Amino acid sequence: MDALIYYFSGTGNSLAISKSISAGLENCPVRSIPGSMKKGDYKVESDVVGFVFPNHYGKVPGIVTDFISKAVFEKVRYVFAVISGGGGSGYAFNGLKKSLRKKNLFLNAAMETSMPGNYIIAPYYDFANRDEEGKRLLFEETGRKIESLTGIIKERKNHFGVKYGGSKIISLLLNLPNNLSDVRKWDKYFSADEKCNSCSTCQKICPVGNIKMAGAKPSWNHDCRMCMACIQFCPAGAVQFKDGTRKRKRYHHPSVSVGEMLKIL
Ligand SMILES: Cc1cc2nc3c(=O)[nH]c(=O)nc-3n(C[C@H](O)[C@H](O)[C@H](O)COP(=O)(O)O)c2cc1C
Repeated sequence: MDALIYYFSGTGNSLAISKSISAGLENCPVRSIPGSMKKGDYKVESDVVGFVFPNHYGKVPGIVTDFISKAVFEKVRYVFAVISGGGGSGYAFNGLKKSLRKKNLFLNAAMETSMPGNYIIAPYYDFANRDEEGKRLLFEETGRKIESLTGIIKERKNHFGVKYGGSKIISLLLNLPNNLSDVRKWDKYFSADEKCNSCSTCQKICPVGNIKMAGAKPSWNHDCRMCMACIQFCPAGAVQFKDGTRKRKRYHHPSVSVGEMLKIL
């Protein structure tokens, strides 16, 4: 194995990036972090390891930090990471470096990418409404960045492709509610409306098994990672967060299907 990629992805952006890097390397399996954790599989069997995950409130999603803290990195000599954000990576690379340091690891190569924002519960969420040209340009730019990072990984170079711009302030602001309350319980605002046909896609796609079918409708059980998979992948558009999401278009990465998300979870 030339490299191993661990990813966390709610709506497929980080999975699509992981697949592109993997395709550009010789022998590089892609593994889901929640899937590896469910299996209790924490041994990293490669000397090159990559982490690909979204920016959540300017930080590393808790499940990624948990995984790194439990993983065994004995063989690892080179580490790379991509953080996919709606704007950028915010402060998340600082958090990642801190987690890696605790395992005596150094982040050799890093890239932040702007991907479609999937945070549908925020009023400023608009990617799904953008014109096709705008969407194409965003994916093209990310494609170029990922191609360049893949070359860097192949040559085992050190590179830090991350800017700390205006997103610092946004990150700080977005962090405020996160520090004041427990994100895992924010799922009390999710519900399924009258369009729900009990297909249970939400239950199956939740990466941490937080959703159960209570009779014909799903219920959320307060271990939510706010990844947005349930609301964005619901084929009927029936999952809502409070009332604000009823009229918003849904988004998931165009190259990632529900089937693929389910297969590798
Ligand atoms: C809970 C949550 C918080 C987010 N916070 C930020 C943020 O602070 N800054 C940002 O640029 N994008 C933010 N985003 C957008 C995601 O990072 C972005 O859409 C990412 O590409 C999603 O990747 P995924 O499809 O692999 O989950 C947030 C998304 C979610 C669900």
